[in-house]
Amino acid sequence: MNTEPYLKQRLICVAVIDKVDDAVPLAEALLAGGLNNIEVTFRTDSAAAAIALIRKHVPQMAVGAGTLLHGDQVKQAVDAGAQFGVSPGLSEAVSIAAQKNWLPLFPGVVTPSEIMRALELGWKDLKFFPAETFGGVNALKALAGPFGHTGVKFVPTGGITVATLPNYLAIPQVAAVGGSWMADRKLVADKNWAKITALTAEAMKVISAAQAK
Ligand code: 3PG
Repeated sequence: MNTEPYLKQRLICVAVIDKVDDAVPLAEALLAGGLNNIEVTFRTDSAAAAIALIRKHVPQMAVGAGTLLHGDQVKQAVDAGAQFGVSPGLSEAVSIAAQKNWLPLFPGVVTPSEIMRALELGWKDLKFFPAETFGGVNALKALAGPFGHTGVKFVPTGGITVATLPNYLAIPQVAAVGGSWMADRKLVADKNWAKITALTAEAMKVISAAQAK
């Protein structure tokens, strides 16, 4: 399953959408800042409807479903139009459901054993969560030792900011970074679309500078 389109921009915006009416303006605000990638988390009842609305009204946006904790959420996400899935941990039920529904999945890992199990289950693009709490850049560099040759790629998420973004992007095994800082729950609830666009544009500028190195 091809995850490449969702990693190309090297940033995934992790969003918690409380009100379904905020979904489309949020996606448009991210797009205006140059990002075409959003992970809508299944932490609110609005998640599936938000995914469907963004797919319908903002077709340039790639839309993932995040916080997939149960296998049945995978089907719900796919039915809503999710193009990729993200889980905070490594669940066999979620993994099986994703494979059954042809949903590219970023399962969550932090330990070598979890990485080995994820590889056994057929996943190579792994969310490293919660990144900052579990050793951040240093942990990822250490994990690149035994896993660098396996083709495993990480999407560190959790506690990352625009200031720490370049440190993560400099690690060859880091495919992309996930974070909510450009569109945190309060900014969305406040409908502060201009600020979300500005923070997204700032992040995209940092990414361009990191790519140029
Ligand atoms: C996630 O689920 O990936 C995290 O909530 C995102 O982490 P952050 O809010 O610290 O960026």
